[in-house]
Amino acid sequence: MMNIKKSTHSEWSSRLAFILAATGSAVGLGNIWKFPYITGENGGGAFVFVYLLCVLLIGIPIMIAEVMLGRRGHRNPIETMELLTEEAGADKNWHYLGWMGVIAGLLILSYYSVIAGWASAYVVKAFTGSFFDANAVAIKTVFDDFVASPVRLIFWHSIFMLATMMIVVRGVNNGLEKAVQYLMPSLFVLMFLLVAYAMKMDSYYQGLHFLLFPDFSKLTGSSILTAMGHAFFTLSLGMGAIMVYGSYLPKNISIAKTALLIAGADTLVALMAGIVIFPIVFSNNLHPDSGPGLIFQTLPIAFGSMTGGWLMGILFFVMLVIAALTSSISLIEPAVAWLVENRGFSRVKACVWSGSLTWLLGLGTVFSFNVWSNVKLFDRTIFQLLDYLTANLMLPIGGFCIAVFAGWIMKRQHSEQELNMATELDYIRWKVLISYVAPCAVFFVFLHVIGIF
Ligand code: PHE
Repeated sequence: MMNIKKSTHSEWSSRLAFILAATGSAVGLGNIWKFPYITGENGGGAFVFVYLLCVLLIGIPIMIAEVMLGRRGHRNPIETMELLTEEAGADKNWHYLGWMGVIAGLLILSYYSVIAGWASAYVVKAFTGSFFDANAVAIKTVFDDFVASPVRLIFWHSIFMLATMMIVVRGVNNGLEKAVQYLMPSLFVLMFLLVAYAMKMDSYYQGLHFLLFPDFSKLTGSSILTAMGHAFFTLSLGMGAIMVYGSYLPKNISIAKTALLIAGADTLVALMAGIVIFPIVFSNNLHPDSGPGLIFQTLPIAFGSMTGGWLMGILFFVMLVIAALTSSISLIEPAVAWLVENRGFSRVKACVWSGSLTWLLGLGTVFSFNVWSNVKLFDRTIFQLLDYLTANLMLPIGGFCIAVFAGWIMKRQHSEQELNMATELDYIRWKVLISYVAPCAVFFVFLHVIGIF
């Protein structure tokens, strides 16, 4: 039945449009906010090494697979999985994969929006000169006072959710293309300027050493899991975001090259963020393991003291918010696309429902930083729990299933035809990575964490 149903799905106008949108999804808070603070919490270089290895061996092959499944299905992740399962003559249960992705997306967005709200509030702080000549202690006080106020966090969380919904209502490929077209190059330029600033600091090499020199004695099972989870999170993998974007991809475009480009750009932004932040940490006697507040407690010090820092500060936080927006829309799009295509909702109604639910869930994260900071489940606040559940468990499990599906369930002739790689060898390389390397790596990391391996 499914195959004859006509798809109402639209398409990107060009390869560039897809690259920009998918890079927009990948580059976000994960690179600039999360990567530095989890690197700080997990001891630096060795953690970064594992993360890079995961991007290369697990992330890129899975990204190729996810785009491929999306394009072949040409529908929202739930329907795509139903359709492809049927095509491969496989067990119906595979469509639960689509479901898990929709749920993971909404759960991630619930805390993502709160943190993006912080970034939005910091645009105003930068504008009003709050960082001017301020020292590390003053900057920390600004941050601590801010997150202590549930009302302010709710206000900014609401603004960000509203902005996300307003964009999603118009459909991902209307308007979004333009926004990302300018954002990505500007973000790179700004990051380069900040790196140039960091290079002049006395503690530049100390920061670089911390970020890049691997001290493997600092690796634990849980930091390996965090590094792997982050590879999924930062590349937007394992939950259908990239699958949805792939579903809008015209047939004649090379998936593999595109995936490499996106992963490369994403990794570069994260490393640049690390290169900027750690020298500031060390030159101000701050601690790398300061947690989710790290960038909000370090970058303003730099903006407060550098020439042109006022403008740089405003631009930086504005871009961070836009980068977060281009990711948040991809987090909610699987849910919206499903409500529209399968439940007959109008786009507006689908956005209102999924957006309101996510907003409500986000309150849990808001309160984790103030009134409920002592409420812990499994030794974690609600925010930490949501982050762990999604980034460390749901995305890797989703990614594992995508790898197994693409490597073992889907017929070889279909994946070969869809990927249409330059050489047979390229295809075989990918096939080995997706069938053996990626799923085994995820599996062993899980075994290692529960103490079996
Ligand atoms: N990749 C985004 C970031 O790094 C977050 C994201 C995760 C987006 C999963 C979509 C899906 O900020």
